[in-house]
Amino acid sequence: MSKRIGILTGGGDCCGLNPAIRGAVYRAFDYHYEVFGIRDGWKGLIESNLFKIDLEDVEELIDKAGTFLGTSRTNPFKIEGGVESALNTITNYGLDAILAMGGEDTLGVASKLFREKKVNIVGAPKTMDNDLSATDFTFGFDSAVTRAMEAMKSLEDTGRSHHRVMIMEVMGRHAGWVALYTGLASGADWVLIPEEEPDVDGMCKQLQRVYSRKKYALVVVSEGVKLPGVDSGKEELDQFGHMILKKREIGQSLGDIITEKTGIETRHAVIGHMQRGGIPTVFDRMLGLRTGVKAMELIEEQDFGKMAAMKGNEIVAVSLEEATKEIKKVDQEWLKFARIFFK
Ligand code: F6P
Repeated sequence: MSKRIGILTGGGDCCGLNPAIRGAVYRAFDYHYEVFGIRDGWKGLIESNLFKIDLEDVEELIDKAGTFLGTSRTNPFKIEGGVESALNTITNYGLDAILAMGGEDTLGVASKLFREKKVNIVGAPKTMDNDLSATDFTFGFDSAVTRAMEAMKSLEDTGRSHHRVMIMEVMGRHAGWVALYTGLASGADWVLIPEEEPDVDGMCKQLQRVYSRKKYALVVVSEGVKLPGVDSGKEELDQFGHMILKKREIGQSLGDIITEKTGIETRHAVIGHMQRGGIPTVFDRMLGLRTGVKAMELIEEQDFGKMAAMKGNEIVAVSLEEATKEIKKVDQEWLKFARIFFK
């Protein structure tokens, strides 16, 4: 009898997920597996919401953003009876293994189910935030940064005409990779990330210096940055204990501070969820395909509790536990590198 494999995608959607599903399913068919899509992440496993996947379902997914399986931020360990229901679904469908695609939260659940409930699970590294440990990159990041970089070009055009400081607020609640890469790749004059205490005076001096040369300046800020003296409002938490940033607009507060301290007219834009859609870059398509294929190979080898990760240009197996122990943050070396460009 052929093996039955379930695939799910959890957490925020991003580019590269559909290519990763495609890679995994194509490889699964090499092994004559039956593949089931689990709808909306762990929610679908709890609620027994599965469907059989055929080649026709995935063959045109290579250039599509989002996830055709749907997603949610459901944590079975935070729902009464959630884990038991998930285990029942695995038994009822006769699933031999599960491939979970996600970031620290989704894969944290995978790791726990593997360790504590002996579920045969492997993972693939998804998140536009690029903050998953044990992998050099996650799919979704490159496209998200590319989208923000393109938007920065538009901000630059209008900033130059009106002689303004233009601020772009990008996603990133806990890690500043998106802001850092967006800023460096678009020639921004200052970047603020959650890992670093904002140096408001230093930033304003730098913006004045830049302004005196080119009569406009560009700033990128992570949504998760906390500004001294600015009330960040009451924060709601999701089932993984992370802030839900529905109302905060750090770009707006930052703009007010810059205008007040420098006297330069300032505007801001929030790219938000537009960063998660659009056309997946070649990097994300390839990383998705490669990690999807590798994850299915791990299942074939019965190498469970592992995640397909990128190290250098190789796709290798790392432990899910290692990948989800803590999030990968921007370190001092990167900050030093960024400062080279703030003159
Ligand atoms: O998936 C990570 C992330 O993109 C964060 O950078 C962002 O803060 C969050 O998701 C937004 O999530 P939601 O889609 O639930 O608003």
